[in-house]
Amino acid sequence: MTTIGVAGAGSIGASLIRLLHTSPAARSLRLKTVLVRDAARPRPELPAGTPLTACPAELTDDPQIDVVVELLGGVEEPFRIVSRALSQGKAVVTANKNLLAERGPELFALAAERRLPLGYEASVCAGIPIIRTLEEALRAERITALEGILNGTSNYLLTRMSEERAAYAQCLADAQRLGLAEPDPTYDVSGQDAACKAGILATLAFGAYVDCRRLPVTGIDGLGLEDVRQAEVMGYRIKLVAAVRRAAGDRVDAEVAAVLLPLQHPLASIRMECNAVRIESEGLGETLLAGKGAGPAPTGVSLLADLLDIAAGRGRIPTDGHPFLAGAAELADRQASAARYYLRLAVADRPGTLAQVAGCFASQGISLASVLQPEVPELAGGSLVPLILTTHSTDRRRLDLVLAALSAAGCGRSVVLRIGEH
Ligand SMILES: NC(=O)c1ccc[n+]([C@@H]2O[C@H](COP(=O)([O-])OP(=O)(O)OC[C@H]3O[C@@H](n4cnc5c(N)ncnc54)[C@H](OP(=O)(O)O)[C@@H]3O)[C@@H](O)[C@H]2O)c1
Repeated sequence: MTTIGVAGAGSIGASLIRLLHTSPAARSLRLKTVLVRDAARPRPELPAGTPLTACPAELTDDPQIDVVVELLGGVEEPFRIVSRALSQGKAVVTANKNLLAERGPELFALAAERRLPLGYEASVCAGIPIIRTLEEALRAERITALEGILNGTSNYLLTRMSEERAAYAQCLADAQRLGLAEPDPTYDVSGQDAACKAGILATLAFGAYVDCRRLPVTGIDGLGLEDVRQAEVMGYRIKLVAAVRRAAGDRVDAEVAAVLLPLQHPLASIRMECNAVRIESEGLGETLLAGKGAGPAPTGVSLLADLLDIAAGRGRIPTDGHPFLAGAAELADRQASAARYYLRLAVADRPGTLAQVAGCFASQGISLASVLQPEVPELAGGSLVPLILTTHSTDRRRLDLVLAALSAAGCGRSVVLRIGEH
């Protein structure tokens, strides 16, 4: 029998605790203690008699507990609890992407030193077995690129905008009502959540630590319905994509951004709150994993699988060569990487504007692939009107010089999206 302490009984903790109570697969596991902030609050969502404490040491320092499952959220307190549990000789399972993305090297070093398993399948894409796939199934494979839809909230919003032509604010309000978005959605829609997961996946795919705080990140919060509509007219769908690629000199080229994907791209058809990861590798070519990337039930399934592995003596103990222990990855200069771009500018509605805009692009040697000025009703003098452009391949540094020149020439706030390839 393996004895477990669970830190956190929120939506994920409660789901795991119920599973430990009801799943026939969990027969070899015994739940001893559950850490919460407020142990006196009634918790009808938990099985009657669940033993609660508000004292972390009752998990981390209890000699009877073999495994601590960390499901608190945040970084500092989870780091204290996980590092204390490891130093007390306990295996750890966590669903906490922020903890691993920011403090992973220290925790994996401690687990390696103490020869203890550290399970973290649930930390990225919940129920989709992406960590196992990268760490085990593809361990002999050279991965060249990986791209993913890693944030269910953003994908839900973009799907509703695309399929129903519903406005961003309306979709967001619905997502909050359905529990798919937090009351403050910033972390999800700004791309930060996806960046955290991208850091972990890039670390595993390329064998050196990619700190998510170094990645360039933009979200979907600046997009309008007109961008979604226009992208589709041109044969694309807008998705928030975490893209990492092996660049020259084994540098890692990585970004999280809203991207125009061709409609036939495998990630373009991932709908609503689903997640997906597409891996490109030398031997296998293309591999796609898709499914439920969030939510209490899928996350509980992953956590239980990690626990069963540990109980059966198959828990993954990090060794010296573990990617989180292999030093920091060198990042490629994204400003230098070539791509095509979609731009929506706001320009003055007066003769000569188009020539002025075209001149700014020409001065940097950027060739335009298409130009569209959608008709708008007659506006008062001095108004700005939308101008939609796509470019041929260019590097981002030159594009940024054009954007600066356009801004100096009085163009309003612009949307700039990379056009993905497939
Ligand atoms: N939601 C998802 O779909 C999903 C998917 C994969 C991974 N995750 C990860 O799973 C983790 C848990 O998420 P969640 O949605 O379950 O969080 P949550 O609902 O906010 O629950 C957090 C739990 O931790 C307890 N807690 C927080 N800080 C504490 C402290 N300092 N001391 C003692 N107890 C503390 C809380 O106690 P009280 O109940 O007393 O407040 C609560 O029970 C996060 O790392 C999250 O990123 C979530």
